[in-house]
Amino acid sequence: MTVARPRVPAALPLLGELPRLLLLVLLCLPAVWGDCGLPPEVPNAQPALEGRTSFPEDTVITYKCEESFVKIPGEKDSVICLKGSQWSDIEEFCNRSCEVPTRLNSASLKQPYITQNYFPVGTVVEYECRPGYRREPSLSTKLTCLQNLKWSTAVEFCKKKSCPNPGEIRNGQIDVPDGILFGATISFSCNTGYKLFGSTSSFCLISGSSVQWSDPLPECREIHCPAPPQIDNGIIQGERDHYGYRQSVTYACNKGFTMIGEHSIYCTVNNDEGEWSGPPPECRGKSLTSKVPPTVQKPTTVNVPTTEVSPTSQKTTTKTTTPNAQATRSTPVSRTTKHFHETTPNKGSGTTSGTTRLLSGHTCFTLTGLLGMLVTVGLLT
Ligand SMILES: *[C@@H]1O[C@H](CO)[C@@H](O)[C@H](O)[C@H]1NC(C)=O
Repeated sequence: MTVARPRVPAALPLLGELPRLLLLVLLCLPAVWGDCGLPPEVPNAQPALEGRTSFPEDTVITYKCEESFVKIPGEKDSVICLKGSQWSDIEEFCNRSCEVPTRLNSASLKQPYITQNYFPVGTVVEYECRPGYRREPSLSTKLTCLQNLKWSTAVEFCKKKSCPNPGEIRNGQIDVPDGILFGATISFSCNTGYKLFGSTSSFCLISGSSVQWSDPLPECREIHCPAPPQIDNGIIQGERDHYGYRQSVTYACNKGFTMIGEHSIYCTVNNDEGEWSGPPPECRGKSLTSKVPPTVQKPTTVNVPTTEVSPTSQKTTTKTTTPNAQATRSTPVSRTTKHFHETTPNKGSGTTSGTTRLLSGHTCFTLTGLLGMLVTVGLLT
């Protein structure tokens, strides 16, 4: 009863005002009662309406800055529809701004600027060198946002640090294709006859507050040939403990023995391994040489194609060898050996690798050896 009581006197005057109330409703018809309507205009900003057409109480509308404008930090960028169909206040909050400064490989933005994105005209930002780079003292590390909303040109104010001079490798080489500055790679190799122990390359990288090579220099150790083969009825002249690349051993036959083959062989290198240029010579007693003729017959026919000479010169070889054995003794040997020497440069024209040299050397002395035998046979008969 107490609740209803005030209602009666209140409703009575309302009834009397009914025509005026109706008029008010009619006047406000385009906008719904309790609606704020379109949000206010803000310079250089657009409200994110998201397709809304009504803006009831408590509606929040946020604005976005137009292109090349950025929200000023700390400024309001939204409005709310208050009681009484009124938008909350908003002030201009967008200003012209440069974009976030250019990312540089050599330098990074200093602390206060890293997190910023509002850089109005005239703003100055400062960089600091990244690890591996050093400051170029004469150049400024600052950039300015210019009137055209572009940053002033970044000069190379931070330069790559240099790794120490790599030095030298004994019996080896250091290849420095792109200098020794931070990020560079150098590679190592050993001279022929030496084997590499250690790294084949090194990088200039960050080490503490400086730059340093990633790997130490390798070692180039001399490759040794196996102990030279001993021969029957002969000796090695001045035998040494080790034989390195290109070093030779010379054999001598005991008295009364004849040497068949090269009197010297030399140490070659193949795949970082030392090996002798060919087999050692043989020392044969004079009585043994009678056994030689049958073995000679076969090789002469076999050896001709292996010399790889042109068909015309091949004919001459076969022609000369046969009469030589019977006729004059000293001249044929020198003539034929001379001929074989001429073929050697043809074979190994481009590369003088150990294998080709070994091959040519081998055929050369087996042939001279055979010729020598032929001569001895000729002398005896
Ligand atoms: C907008 O930036 C200019 C410099 O470009 C500055 O002078 C002005 O004060 C800024 N406006 C506001 C509202 O911060």
